Amino acid sequence: MHKIPASEITPEQLYLSRRAFLGAAGALSAAALLAACGGGTAAPAATPLPTDGRTDELGAPLSSFEQITTYNNYYEFTTDKAGVARLAQQFQTSPWAVQVGGLVGKPRTFSLEELLALGQEERIYRLRCVEGWSMVIPWRGFPLHKLLAAVEPQAGAKYVRFETLFRPEAMPGQHDQLYPWPYVEGLRLDEAMHDLTLLATGLYGRDLTPQNGGPVRLVVPWKYGFKSIKAVVKIDLVAEAPTSLWMALAPGEYGFYANVNPEVAHPRWSQASERRIGELPRRPTLRFNGYADQVAALYAGMDLRANY
Ligand code: MTE
Repeated sequence: MHKIPASEITPEQLYLSRRAFLGAAGALSAAALLAACGGGTAAPAATPLPTDGRTDELGAPLSSFEQITTYNNYYEFTTDKAGVARLAQQFQTSPWAVQVGGLVGKPRTFSLEELLALGQEERIYRLRCVEGWSMVIPWRGFPLHKLLAAVEPQAGAKYVRFETLFRPEAMPGQHDQLYPWPYVEGLRLDEAMHDLTLLATGLYGRDLTPQNGGPVRLVVPWKYGFKSIKAVVKIDLVAEAPTSLWMALAPGEYGFYANVNPEVAHPRWSQASERRIGELPRRPTLRFNGYADQVAALYAGMDLRANY
């Protein structure tokens, strides 16, 4: 991740915006910033482990439990995908509480047990990282709209803002002041209310592992993986579009919508295809990650190049 090949030399505009950021953040390492969810990552060995034989609705086999739990993006721990699982091993996921507030009639803090009581269903979703790799993951969880209905959104609520735990003593990557912690993400309210949008509490029928965002994380399968924020502790309904961590860090690279779109390249690499972890030939990337039938209507009339 830190080794950016010469073919990925940063375009001038991005370089300038990074310089502006670096100026604002103080004298920080440019090399570390270049690691920001970038491409050029080394592939793990292509050794698929046995799954239980199931597939997604397009016929693709599930990624194995091992693949899903040993190749992770979780910058609160490390930018090294293969190192997250070990560093997150001792992370305390219990007790846990998610504070839900903002423009709602009934603000409330949910314990993990109360969240689990909102339902436990399995959803097999493709996860497509903006970096160009993907997996097929059998999540366990419940649609976010169940939680939002319980707090009664007010008329002025147009967006939902999500925040990850900030606990540098447990999450060593948070000592790196290059990143504007805590990790924040956002959705439009109608995206958040869509039935595909999940709060996941498990995978492969087990509790969610810390490296995958346990005990509770968001999963938005038609958007690039960075929207699926891990270890959520705060959810606020708000009037304005929240600024995510990635938007703050590299606004020219990461927008608010981040819908999977093979036709719109990342400034530093194409998004037309992807590498399914465990496979060698690349697969074509699908519009909205293969969920266009369910979600394209959310964006009717919008310019999906401008709203990247
Ligand atoms: N959430 C937090 N809090 N911190 C992160 O670094 N990485 C994102 C997303 N959620 C990230 C996060 C990115 S870039 C991806 S691709 C997915 O988590 C990866 O999820 P996985 O490790 O479960 O595959």
